[in-house]
Amino acid sequence: MSLDIEKLKADVSMDVAQAATLEVLEAMRLKYLGKKGLLQELYAGLASASPEEKKLIGKGANELKVLAENLIEERKKTLSTSKKRGAAIDVTIPGVANDAGTKHLINQTLEEICDVFERMGFVIQRGPEIESEFNNFTALNIPLDHPSRDSFDTFYLDQEDPTAKGRYLLLRSHTSPGQMRVMQKHKPPMAVIIPGKVYRPDAVDASHSFMFHQIEGLLVDKNVTFADLKGLLTAFCKKFFGDDVKMRFRPHYFPFTEPSAEVDIQSNIFKGRAGKWLEILGCGMVHPKVFEHAGYPPGEYTGLAFGLGVERIAMLKHGIGDIRTFAENDMRFLKQF
Ligand code: DAH
Repeated sequence: MSLDIEKLKADVSMDVAQAATLEVLEAMRLKYLGKKGLLQELYAGLASASPEEKKLIGKGANELKVLAENLIEERKKTLSTSKKRGAAIDVTIPGVANDAGTKHLINQTLEEICDVFERMGFVIQRGPEIESEFNNFTALNIPLDHPSRDSFDTFYLDQEDPTAKGRYLLLRSHTSPGQMRVMQKHKPPMAVIIPGKVYRPDAVDASHSFMFHQIEGLLVDKNVTFADLKGLLTAFCKKFFGDDVKMRFRPHYFPFTEPSAEVDIQSNIFKGRAGKWLEILGCGMVHPKVFEHAGYPPGEYTGLAFGLGVERIAMLKHGIGDIRTFAENDMRFLKQF
């Protein structure tokens, strides 16, 4: 029996080093050290060998056994730690899904409302949150001594209005100044909605916040009537709150519209508020003074306008009792919508 023990040692080293997975390594262990493996074969051959051969084969086989055991043990360690580090990736394991966020309920509601008006032909416009006293009040026919101009009701900035000496810039207290910006740039006919944030120095409680969202609507053309306003807002309310919504237009006063009204609604979807009239928006026919400030020729156009509060509508629709929850970033609240 001739035995090239050095070649066998080289073979085992090569085989073990090339084993790329624990499974292949196990196959190599069986090949050399298993019950039907190469070493068992060598030992079996000893029976028919001469005494000198026995010595040689016995010594060589033992060396081979020790070498194979050591190499396999080491390789095993390498393979199992590299697997832990992720070097050997098992592509059959199901992946881990990313935790996707959701749109904030205020943005959802705002987009839903805008969507209804867009489908009726309105175009979205946006105005700045920092406004002039002129756009926020004067152009809207709000007199100089009107309480809403007071610093108790409006956030004034330290910065003087570059176009009006002695007048200061402010954070818009409603989206209505957007009307003026659109009219100064465009001629009728026009139908725009202006969504955005508004600011008022109110003490924060369950129904007041120093920042909230409004959506302003403005439609100007020749011969626009109050019937158009009623028709438009009725269509909106039915689309948004459902066909069985009840509405009433209650006379009101706004300096920038004449006549003016507030719209109240009743709906079964407002849990626990059945049979109660709930105010949802202000509206009216654009005051001639507003057209005058926009630079439109007197008597040529008529228009309708409305303004609604997004937080209020979201709270009614989803039965939310406290406006502060919108800004608390509690995932348990946000994830419900
Ligand atoms: N700007 C009013 C507010 O903040 C809401 C409003 C009322 C807007 C009547 C309008 C309107 O355009 O016609 O309370």
